[in-house]
Amino acid sequence: MPVPFNLADALDSALQSAAVQAGLEAAAFVPDVRTADPRHGDYQANGVLAYAKAHKQNPRAVAEKLVAALPAGVTEGYVITVAGPGFINFTLQPATLLAWLRMHDSKDHLRSNAASARHGQTWVVDYSAPNTAKQMHVGHLRSAVIGEAISRILEFSGAKVIRDNHIGDWGTQFGKLIWAYKHHRDEQALASDPIEEFERLYQMGNAAADANPAVLEQARQELVRLQSGDATNLAIWRQINEASLQAFQGIYDLLGIRFDVTLGESFYNDKVDRVYRELSDARLAEESQGALVVFHPEHPRFKTQPFIMRKADGASNYASTDLATALYRALHFHADGIVIVTDFRQADHFEQLFLTVRKWFAAKSYRLPALHHVTFGAVTGEDGKALRTRDGGTIKLKELLAEAEARAYALVSERSADLTEEERRKIAAVVGVASVQYADLSQNRSSDYVFAWDKMISLEGNTAAYLLYAVARIHSIFRKLGLAAGDLAGEAAGTPPETPAEQALARKLVKFADAIRLVNDTLRPHFLCLYLYELAGEFSGFYAADKVAVDDPAVRARRLLLCARTLLVMETGLGLLGLRTLTRM
Ligand code: ARG
Repeated sequence: MPVPFNLADALDSALQSAAVQAGLEAAAFVPDVRTADPRHGDYQANGVLAYAKAHKQNPRAVAEKLVAALPAGVTEGYVITVAGPGFINFTLQPATLLAWLRMHDSKDHLRSNAASARHGQTWVVDYSAPNTAKQMHVGHLRSAVIGEAISRILEFSGAKVIRDNHIGDWGTQFGKLIWAYKHHRDEQALASDPIEEFERLYQMGNAAADANPAVLEQARQELVRLQSGDATNLAIWRQINEASLQAFQGIYDLLGIRFDVTLGESFYNDKVDRVYRELSDARLAEESQGALVVFHPEHPRFKTQPFIMRKADGASNYASTDLATALYRALHFHADGIVIVTDFRQADHFEQLFLTVRKWFAAKSYRLPALHHVTFGAVTGEDGKALRTRDGGTIKLKELLAEAEARAYALVSERSADLTEEERRKIAAVVGVASVQYADLSQNRSSDYVFAWDKMISLEGNTAAYLLYAVARIHSIFRKLGLAAGDLAGEAAGTPPETPAEQALARKLVKFADAIRLVNDTLRPHFLCLYLYELAGEFSGFYAADKVAVDDPAVRARRLLLCARTLLVMETGLGLLGLRTLTRM
């Protein structure tokens, strides 16, 4: 019997058909099937209550009618009960659990089954997007880590994903920077660590322009020269951006990130005139004190708070380039969806942007992609204040990741003193970065995120080390039996999960599909983290209760199957979060 990957979805459609069979007003019935509290079963349909209320019928009677109309494939696969005021509870039969486990047996298989949700869609994910001439600091971590996880999950759900690094490579800061470069550059420093030197020049240019109006004026002229295409200034600008991108790539390599395109603000320079023209023609934009702005009369704040898309001095800005960016993504990439990942402080900007884009695209009959601003909270230290170095400076991301690795090395050395130094270094490199990624991903992204080394690099609690350790432990089970990881030694037939721990683990495994669906719908990776953490917990419970390497071949086979699928789901899930995994720890 073929068993669908997403059982909740399958129940949903079965109930829809049953509604037709049972003579309900099917169009008005939403089954609303979700994962149930394990005490009540695996899934619960909640939709009967609303339907019965609206139709002034007895909800229990409606539920009974629906259950009676379910096809045999469903009634044989589950224990079905009507509970309380009219919930329908579904508990998977052990044979159905076995069939699911047997069938969903490889990463490709999981992917191709998850891929129906966004099949054929193109999504642009705009994340990381630091400004050039400065190093990435801890505040840049969240966008990079969250954006990568979302990209992977969208891809897993069937979308073609274009990872777009919308770097801040244009703007007034370049006048001061070029001024400082011309007057104060240190050739040697530039050759050995260019990004460090550009950052120094950036700060120096800023300070000098603040202190001295003559410098400010010279910097302004450098900017004008750059904007009018002066060859020397353009060459300096290019050098700055190249050095910055190279430094960023060093971080991206550690995080496993590769962008498909890097189309920063400068790319849209020659594309803003069209935006001014089209928005003015559509009467969406108006002149206000010399600037070109958009108001949204239907919005409580934006009816008076303007969206400034061209400044009074004629210069473009963040709004104009982002409008041009939206158009480019819609027309050039044919995006069905756009996700932009930044911190919550840009919420107004993107709300105004999206309101404007919707009206503009409607006026021009451009196809409108789904628009999502994925926000996240601030990163703070344990004192609740912005995270800083001991002397009050911002923490550079490359130093932070190096410290993570050093702390992971200490943890691994303490726990696994028997491994060689080389092995421990390799493990620490994975655990260190994964700990930082996972600490970020495992929280609801809307919350502020408290950066706490001791909690994050630990084998206890919902941490990367705990999950990576669970994976390594399953590898060692197979190793000890002389089997390749996930190999069922020809005993694949197996029998249905039997003991309470076997069943609890199997029930958790089949819910992987729901976790993926939830992240795909909400763009919140912490739901997948929570799922994997709970799965690792079920595995621990199973492993403590039920011995795998027993003599009885049937028992051994069904326990090995659970080990193999736990490994598959854990590795797939951690990979979707952007984490690397280990086979030994
Ligand atoms: N460079 C911006 C910053 O550092 C983020 C850009 C996000 N993407 C966008 N299309 N505006 O805040």
